[in-house]
Amino acid sequence: MVSFNTAIRTKLIRENMRNFEDLQIAVAGTGYVGLSIATLLAQHHKVTAVDIIPEKVEKINNRISPIQDEYIEKYFAEKELNLTATLDGASAYKDADFVVIAAPTNYDP
Ligand SMILES: NC(=O)c1ccc[n+]([C@@H]2O[C@H](COP(=O)([O-])OP(=O)(O)OC[C@H]3O[C@@H](n4cnc5c(N)ncnc54)[C@H](O)[C@@H]3O)[C@@H](O)[C@H]2O)c1
Repeated sequence: MVSFNTAIRTKLIRENMRNFEDLQIAVAGTGYVGLSIATLLAQHHKVTAVDIIPEKVEKINNRISPIQDEYIEKYFAEKELNLTATLDGASAYKDADFVVIAAPTNYDP
């Protein structure tokens, strides 16, 4: 027998929370910090990685790591990742449920 509270809570969760897999996450900065986080999260969520350097964005979209990192390279080669890189921060941040800032400390939005 499901209690009234449990039923209400379940209804609220169903109506207000999107599926875990549907979460959209934007990561600002694809350096050592940002690209590691983006790669890990992209195993389970839709991740948009934002950078200001076009060559980095292009490489990530072609699953070539712009930085030397054993695990990022391995994950790019072997894992199915829901990861897209872009120069268009405004649209990535607007659509995101969460934004991870991994840009330099003198970052200029
Ligand atoms: N690397 C570490 O071990 C470490 C540890 C603790 C804290 N941090 C902090 O984490 C942050 C990221 O560090 P990192 O080592 O990954 O730096 P990084 O220099 O390797 O990468 C930063 C990335 O951000 C991009 N960027 C710059 N301006 C941007 C903007 N406006 N929008 C989007 N992207 C932008 C750069 O092009 C670069 O690719 C820094 O603030 C750093 O101080 C780093």
